[in-house]
Amino acid sequence: MPLEAVVLAAGKGTRMKSRTPKVLHKVLGLPMVDWVLEALPREVGKVWVVVGSAREAVEEALGSRGVGFVLQREQRGTGDAVRVALPSLSSPWVLVAPGDMPLLRRSSLETLVESHFRGGYQASLLTARLEDPTGYGRVVREGGRVVAIVEETEVTARQREIKEVNTGVYLFSLELLREALPSLVPHPPKEELYLTDVISWAASRGRRVGAVTLEDPWEGLGVNDRVQLAQATAVLRDRKNRALLDGGVSMVDPGSVYVEAGVEVGADSVVYPWVYLEGETRIGEGCVIRSHVRIADSVLGRGVTVLDASVIEGSRLAPGVSVGPMARLRPGTRLEEGAKVGNFVEVKKSVLGRGTKANHLAYIGDATLGEGVNVGAGTITCNYDGFTKHPTIIGDGVFIGSDTQLVAPVRVGDHALIGAGSTITKDVPENALALSRVPQKVIPHRGMLYFKKKRGGRE
Ligand code: UD1
Ligand code: CA
Repeated sequence: MPLEAVVLAAGKGTRMKSRTPKVLHKVLGLPMVDWVLEALPREVGKVWVVVGSAREAVEEALGSRGVGFVLQREQRGTGDAVRVALPSLSSPWVLVAPGDMPLLRRSSLETLVESHFRGGYQASLLTARLEDPTGYGRVVREGGRVVAIVEETEVTARQREIKEVNTGVYLFSLELLREALPSLVPHPPKEELYLTDVISWAASRGRRVGAVTLEDPWEGLGVNDRVQLAQATAVLRDRKNRALLDGGVSMVDPGSVYVEAGVEVGADSVVYPWVYLEGETRIGEGCVIRSHVRIADSVLGRGVTVLDASVIEGSRLAPGVSVGPMARLRPGTRLEEGAKVGNFVEVKKSVLGRGTKANHLAYIGDATLGEGVNVGAGTITCNYDGFTKHPTIIGDGVFIGSDTQLVAPVRVGDHALIGAGSTITKDVPENALALSRVPQKVIPHRGMLYFKKKRGGRE
């Protein structure tokens, strides 16, 4: 059946108390409205997103999704939002979903569509049974049939007790919408048009109205405030972690692990407590990610170890690499097979070749290091002269003694040796030894004099 979708995303989301439009608030790394778009069944053809407040931001965020936009200039209610979309619609059937419902699953929408067409309904809605229905429209039934939806603000004392609520997801015939929407009357005090009134309009005219109740009532969660945003995040986090566990990933304490929607983790990897995996991150098989680590937009090959309290962003780590504890890899870092970056080492926009090691206290920026290089403790690439960044190029098998400064731009040839404490300002040819320390002076007995003076000035 030809089907179009209308996603409502024009509301301001006043209850969020935010400068960001509500539907762009992220849940597990994805804007809320994206979760709704992801959940739309495959048979949905064109998708229309109704935008209004902060429309530029919403349109920009959804720009790449191939949806159409409909502008609702004034937010005059959910009924008005669908009304302004009417002229754009052409399919005989219209699926309507709110943009603030990130827990909705595609399978539930498929069930709604299936039940709708099987039952030959003119309108169907998705409902949920909640222990605490506060804040939602109540589904009023007579003889089992849905006859109306009554908003929280308008319920009678008896209706308040109804546990079945409207999720805000519907399937309508376009014809019905064309007839019903123009006749909606505004509700005081805000004078809004309620889409929910289409249901009573249809039922009172003998049109067939169907309803499907969610098996998992959490899916019906509408996010109106930050509490609900946090609840939605918790639910999606559990779903994501469960999928990873099912896929063969071990988690010592899943409740403290936060993995965003787009992240992949290979089987036999172990994730310790308090780990954050974000953005477009892919972690291979058999990796170990210890506690308090944050990895964003990075690719880790198999068998990579990341020790405690490390931060990795925009980096690529080949198989068998080891990082941390307390290391920081900034965007543009590439670590080749078996490379090792140890404690208090910062790497930025640099390549460390196979088996190259920077084990302690170093800053490596805008540098290319060959294979099997040993970077001594305290080594620093001086890549910035206050105006521009300069590159450092280190060949294979170079040994850099501790506390070396490499003043870029500078090149060190293969198998060169740099003495500890050197400041390298000129290129070092291959196989050479470079040393720039001040020769040591030794003054006999001078130390003794010092200590005597300290004791009271007596000789
Ligand atoms: C709505 C339903 C309520 C249901 C609940 C489920 C109505 C009148 N009420 O209430 O029965 O239980 O959802 O979560 O429909 N929007 C627009 N333009 C507008 C107003 C809203 O695009 O003029 C959009 C919002 O951006 C939002 C969605 O429609 O994505 C729902 O609006 P919201 O104000 O959150 O409705 P609720 O009060 O939650
Ligand atoms: Ca809502």
